[in-house]
Amino acid sequence: MNAAVQQAIERGDLESKSAQEIVSWALKQFGERVALASSFGAEDVALIHMMAQANPRPRIFTLDTGRLNQETYDVMDRIREKYRVSIEVMFPKAEAVEQMVREKGLNLFYHSIENRKLCCGIRKVEPLNRALAHLEAWITGLRRDQVVTRAAVKKVDLDADHGGIVKINPLADWTWEEVMDYVKQHQVPYNVLHDQGYPSIGCAPCTRAVKPGEDFRAGRWWWERPEQKECGLHVK
Ligand code: ADX
Ligand code: SF4
Repeated sequence: MNAAVQQAIERGDLESKSAQEIVSWALKQFGERVALASSFGAEDVALIHMMAQANPRPRIFTLDTGRLNQETYDVMDRIREKYRVSIEVMFPKAEAVEQMVREKGLNLFYHSIENRKLCCGIRKVEPLNRALAHLEAWITGLRRDQVVTRAAVKKVDLDADHGGIVKINPLADWTWEEVMDYVKQHQVPYNVLHDQGYPSIGCAPCTRAVKPGEDFRAGRWWWERPEQKECGLHVK
């Protein structure tokens, strides 16, 4: 990474910029060496819309754990068709999944936190590391108000967990309402599960709808205590 970018990050120069400005800066600065990590939740489809405004061929990758909802695959296709973008789909290592389910069963995650982290490690974290290995920067849909562990997320930071590449979170200071307003205003295809009580969507067996008034991430790994609700993509 060049020294000017490093200085800008250290000084926090980008923190006052808008999401679209940050996306445009990232694509210009890193070109082919930056990609969006997309789960096709509302934040990520909003970012795809912003990226497509700045560059008709943005790089987008997704971690297909093999346990996603059909609705998530549907929105992937709708995004592909609307924006004519190609989506780099990362799968887990087949042998690792085979060994895990042979030893612990297909629904191992319900039995212990250790099992759940093992499954997230094999199905998400290892493929993420492979996706990031050739990048100088990645873009995510992280927002500060999603969960306490994300309250201090910066818009642009160095990612010590992934070899010091740049991690770009253009929506860090957005609220859920702002994200949905943006998506609807720009007619961005979004996951229909958001209209069925799912604010945060992960794998099908590990995500349920939340009731009115319940926490944003209450439906993720709902059988665990809140402080454990990270899968290792962002917080180890
Ligand atoms: S998670 O760590 O709990 O799974 P969350 O669902 O909140 O993450 O999503 C936060 C951001 O992580 C998303 O906006 C996206 O950038 C990235 N992300 C999460 N899941 C995936 C996935 N399956 N594929 C690619 N990126 C993902
Ligand atoms: Fe496995 Fe559930 Fe993690 Fe998906 S969210 S990788 S199914 S433990």
